[in-house]
Amino acid sequence: MENGRSGEGILSQEMGAKRGEIIELLRKAYFMELETVMSYISNSVNPEGVRAQEIKEALEEDIQEELRHAQQFAARIKELYGVVPGSLEFEAEQTYLQPPEEQTDVVHVIRGVIEAETGAIEHYTRIVEETDGVDHVTQDMVIDILRDEQGHRRLFEGFLREYQVEGRV
Ligand SMILES: [Fe+2]
Ligand SMILES: [Fe+2]
Repeated sequence: MENGRSGEGILSQEMGAKRGEIIELLRKAYFMELETVMSYISNSVNPEGVRAQEIKEALEEDIQEELRHAQQFAARIKELYGVVPGSLEFEAEQTYLQPPEEQTDVVHVIRGVIEAETGAIEHYTRIVEETDGVDHVTQDMVIDILRDEQGHRRLFEGFLREYQVEGRV
């Protein structure tokens, strides 16, 4: 259990309030990852057409990474004496990653992925800032995850660029 020794940093008693704030940020991150897994599964299956194949394969790879991120966030919540939330607390937010009207609309999917990754980058950058100097372990973990999300977004920006160069969007 937690104790009163300040040498224990974020796990010490006097850091309880700060720990609570960090746990809240981690819970949000956990749900963001899970919603992304849902959205990427549907978008790795639904799209049709020659051009869709590359996108579907890239999303299939990302699903595994996002799932691992969710597990990392859950484990860290527990380590900070928090409780991983249940599914009834989940509220969907990714309006931009719903299936398009036409399943050949690959650009819709690409834009949706870029928006999801941007949201993750913004939230994780905030966690990195909030944990700076107070919780190095969470910060270190989130920096690694942030790098993954930056890589995901960069890949899909490249896909979008291809369509822009061709004048399709
Ligand atoms: Fe992720
Ligand atoms: Fe991602």
